[in-house]
Amino acid sequence: MRSAIRPMPCVRHSATVESTVRGAGIDNYRAEVRVLDLPEPVLLSPEHVLIDVQCAGVGNWDDIVRSGGWNIGCAPPMALGVEAAGIVRDIGPAVTRFRVGDAVLAHAMPVQQGAWAERWVALESQVAHKPVEVAWTVAAALPVPALTAHQVLDNALGLQPGETVLVHGAGGITGGLLVSLAADVGATVIGTAGPRNTDRLMQLGAADVVDYHAADWPERVRKLCPGGLPAAVNAVRGQAGLIMPLVASGGRLATITGDPPLEVRGIRISNCYVQPDGRALEQVATRLAHQRVSIPLAATYPLFDAAAALARVVSGSGPVVLEVR
Ligand SMILES: NC(=O)c1ccc[n+]([C@@H]2O[C@H](COP(=O)([O-])OP(=O)(O)OC[C@H]3O[C@@H](n4cnc5c(N)ncnc54)[C@H](OP(=O)(O)O)[C@@H]3O)[C@@H](O)[C@H]2O)c1
Repeated sequence: MRSAIRPMPCVRHSATVESTVRGAGIDNYRAEVRVLDLPEPVLLSPEHVLIDVQCAGVGNWDDIVRSGGWNIGCAPPMALGVEAAGIVRDIGPAVTRFRVGDAVLAHAMPVQQGAWAERWVALESQVAHKPVEVAWTVAAALPVPALTAHQVLDNALGLQPGETVLVHGAGGITGGLLVSLAADVGATVIGTAGPRNTDRLMQLGAADVVDYHAADWPERVRKLCPGGLPAAVNAVRGQAGLIMPLVASGGRLATITGDPPLEVRGIRISNCYVQPDGRALEQVATRLAHQRVSIPLAATYPLFDAAAALARVVSGSGPVVLEVR
């Protein structure tokens, strides 16, 4: 989730001088999250889509934005949030895929302001239609984890049917989607997770789930794939190096936690950061809906309680969504 985007001043345009929307965000980097009145966002590009936000996702990456570690394209004072689901309120003249009233979801960057707000503007190329069977809350929590999982498996690993892949950290929201999408490709999926997630991951298509609390869990994985893993994904902060010895020489390892190990034994390493992609998001959201894959949300919070929502996510108690209206 790195970016070389230069911050632009947050939403400095308004439909009318006094027109504002409610958001939740920060006055300065590292400040506490609070409710903000933000200038009404407007269509600055002919390719912009203005969205009435229904729900917005809260991830531990939002705390990275809060502390200034991930530049999403604007600077404080700003709303946080990089993913949301809502209804199209207005479109720029070059927009062709969406109409006013469409139900959509998006991970968007760079942005005029974050998605934790009543209205949000995204480029058409970063917006996806929401499958009807996906609830607003789930649609808001999908964009970053679903795109990440898709991009890791398709672009970084190029996972093939019949291959075995390890998902280390399969119990998390992104980890679960990695398991589901890898199984859908026809791969044999081994996940590491705590016991409370074993049944869910087996239902998502894992062939085996190894409890990472056992001291000998790497040995258990090795026994499941004695020749070494052709492909592995790390979704646990700081642990990409730990799974390197399990990967076969000439294999592939992708990590989503910014901790790529050195390349040894011809293993190809990918250090993956999610990229906005509306068409890919639409495909993967539709695929997950058909597979009846949902996200086990820990809680929903009202917008004015965004600080508590973020604190809960940072404490590691699962995915959380803000209900904006
Ligand atoms: N690079 C990117 O673009 C990108 C995109 C999305 C996410 N991420 C990052 O990827 C990481 C995972 O994301 P997520 O959405 O899956 O997070 P998450 O939902 O917060 O994952 C938490 C889960 O990790 C599991 N876990 C914790 N310690 C573990 C260990 N030692 N071994 C195995 N599993 C362990 C736990 O599973 P149990 O409950 O089963 O114990 C826990 O429920 C986060 O650090 C996130 O910031 C990066």
